[in-house]
This record gives sequence, structure tokens and C-alpha cells, in this order.
Amino acid sequence: MNTHDSEKLAGILEELGHRSASDVQSADLILLNTCSIREKAEEKVFSHLGSLRPLKDLRPELIIGLCGCVAQQKGEEIFRRSNLVDFVLGPRAIASLPGILEEVRNRRSRPIDRERRDDSILYDASRARRGPGPRAFITVMEGCNKTCTYCIVPTTRGREVSKPAEDVLREAEALALAGYCELELLGQNVNAYRDGAIHLDGLLRRLQQVEGIRRVRFTTSHPAHLSEEIIRAMRDCPTVCNALHLPAQSGSDAVLERMRRGYTRRRYLDRVERLRRAIPDIGLSTDIIVGYPAETREEFEDTLGLLKEVEFDQVYSFLYSPRPGTDALLQSDGMDRDEKEDRLHELQLLQQEIQRRNNLALVGSVMEVLVDGFSRMGGSFLKGRTATNRVVNFPGEASAMGKFASVRVEAAGPNSLEGRRIEPHRP
Ligand code: 5AD
Ligand code: SF4
Repeated sequence: MNTHDSEKLAGILEELGHRSASDVQSADLILLNTCSIREKAEEKVFSHLGSLRPLKDLRPELIIGLCGCVAQQKGEEIFRRSNLVDFVLGPRAIASLPGILEEVRNRRSRPIDRERRDDSILYDASRARRGPGPRAFITVMEGCNKTCTYCIVPTTRGREVSKPAEDVLREAEALALAGYCELELLGQNVNAYRDGAIHLDGLLRRLQQVEGIRRVRFTTSHPAHLSEEIIRAMRDCPTVCNALHLPAQSGSDAVLERMRRGYTRRRYLDRVERLRRAIPDIGLSTDIIVGYPAETREEFEDTLGLLKEVEFDQVYSFLYSPRPGTDALLQSDGMDRDEKEDRLHELQLLQQEIQRRNNLALVGSVMEVLVDGFSRMGGSFLKGRTATNRVVNFPGEASAMGKFASVRVEAAGPNSLEGRRIEPHRP
């Protein structure tokens, strides 16, 4: 979502006549789009700002703007902490960027806009300035009405609001015409998408009609909001990818309750079972928080047990990070950091083994990938993703970029597959 928010800001700047600078030293304007989900991300903002000081000393006319969730959360405090920042802009107020830039240039004041408007929802996704690749994001809903105790998102992004379905369809058509063939629908709680009687399943079904869109994904799902209707739409719609990111956060009922997640381990597993019954080859990924306040060894082992039981294709795991204003701060902890880090490491080792094993089982199979860039393996290796969201590296030419290819898997590691193309790419 933050990547796409940056694309939106870049789109607005481009419409104002700005061009992207080749490097930070030659930029006249620098926007930092920030994340406050964990403390580390937030700290990075201030260290990054510090690194810009020599530039600003050299060229005082350089404008630096702070955008995103840290801007929303800290507001005026940012000006007190850093005299380098010329303006502060919240994630739901991006439409005021042109006016704010005017204000900074003309009056050298330090404007701030943290209004919770619907700017980012109303923003036409076809205006965004994207990097290369066949995939385009559309923000279909923003904000979160849940109250997970550890999470700062409801404070920074505000209440849920959805983009009208008609707008989503129009923007999808424009993106298809511009050559994009994969769409990723974004929302903090995307399962809660609602435009009158049209819910996420209805939106997925309507998107089938957009010519040129061959793949549709959506993120992030919430286990308590993943309805039968959404699962059925995933099963029925050929362009909806067989992949889902479904954050579990923990495998322990006691921790889930302390987190106020609104589901039990059983209910989570039930969702996984339903998904796998409807879509047998579905690729599943999840988020896990390790070291939530007062997490016992037993509770942690319940999470390890969940990973063993589900065998996710990918797990994003994080150390719990205390966030200002969240209810989890009221829960006493008592665990030391070393122990939390040991647990995180243990979980990651387990998951690597699961992924290595599951990926090895795919050796010999043929997968259809959409080529989206050059592989990290270097040389002439390309990188693509399967509909189930697995990364496949294979030797190929730049002309295959943005196209589909059939690849026979010959080797597998924990995080990716490697293979060879078995037929020329389809247009
Ligand atoms: N500490 C650690 N991880 C967090 N997340 C959200 N808030 C916190 C926090 N305070 C994680 C959750 C969420 C992902 C985007 O970030 O796992 O799903
Ligand atoms: Fe945060 Fe997700 Fe919970 Fe919303 S559902 S409060 S975004 S963790």
C-alpha cells in the first residue's frame, strides 16, 4: 500500500511538471513516504532525514516533505524534531500536495495537512506513476475499523472507506489499455470492501469483464472477514489468482484473544480448510507477530504448531513492537528481548525448512509465470510469479518481460524456484 501511495504522489508531481531526479543530490524536492507500523520503520525516517542535512545546508531552497503514516501520527511534532522538514502530509490528504507546494514556495511557511479525507480512495489509479512491470495496484479501500491491540493502523489510516465499484472498473479498464495485465486490489482490510450492495466478491466478479486483465489479486485479508462468498468468487473467477495472504498473527487462542483478533485458531484453520477445498493448489502466506506481551513458551509453540499444520508458502514474521496509543501497551510483558529474538529465529528456521520441502516437491512440474523483472541471480535470468505467487527464476531474454511463459521447474530453494522455459512466450 505504501509503494502505491508513493506512486500516487509521484503521479501528482508529474502532472505538476516535475520529473524524477537521477539521484537524490540533484533533486529540488524530496518526499519521504513513511511507515509507522513498527518502531524500526519510524526510526528510519529520522535517521534518513539526518542524512539529508548536508544537502539542505548546501542548497537551502531544497524542499523536503514528510508524507505517510509517521506524518499522520506525529504531525507538528515532526517540525519540532527536525528543522529540515518543510511540510507534513497525511496519507488521506494527498490531493492537497499541489497547494502545499505552492504555499512552501511562495510563503516559506511550514504547512501541514492531516485531514482524513478520501483523497487516496478517490485518486484515479491510472494517474499513478509506476515503475516497470505488468502489475498495477488500485487502492479499493482504505482504513481499518478493527481494534487489534498492537496495531497503529486504525489511528494513522482512520475508518474504513471504499472506492466506488464503477471507479474501480473504469480505472482497471484504463490500466488494461495502458498495457497492465495484473491488478492488485489494496486495502488494509480488503475483505471489508463495500460499495452499497457490492462487496469484494461482487467486485472480483465484475473485474472478470475487463478485457486485458489476466490476473487479479487482493490484499490484505482478515480471517474473520473472509466470507464464503469471497472464497467462491476466487474459485469461480478464472482471472482471480489462486493465492491469498491471510495474516494469522499467532497460533495461540490466548494470544489471539489478548490481541483482540476476533477469531480462534480453530476458526483460522477452518478458513484454510475451506480455501483448500475450493482451490486445492492455493498459495497461502501469513503474518506472525512473535513476542507479544507475556507470550509464554507454550503459546509460542502453538504458533510453531500452526505453521507446521498449515505449511504456508511464505511467512512474514515480526518481533512485537510497542506502538504509541495502542492498547497492547497496557499489557505487562516481562519477557526479555533476547528470548523474543531467539523465538523469532526459531520460527524462521522452521518455516525455511517447510518452504524448502514444499518447493522441492514442485521440481519437475510446469508452471505458468508472468515475467516481472530480472532475477537476483543475475546474468540473463528473468524472474516471474506463478498465479499461486511463487517466484520462479529462469534464463530468458528481456523481450519476455511483461509476458507469460511456461517454465519447467528444475531446482528449488526455500524462497524461489528455478527452471527452464519449455515453449516460446505467449503474447
Ligand atoms: N509489532 C509488530 N508487528 C506488527 N504488525 C502490525 N503491528 C505490529 C506491531 N506493533 C504486523 C502484523 C501485520 C503486519 C502488516 O505488520 O503482523 O499483519
Ligand atoms: Fe491493524 Fe490489520 Fe488489525 Fe486493522 S486488521 S487493526 S490493520 S492488524
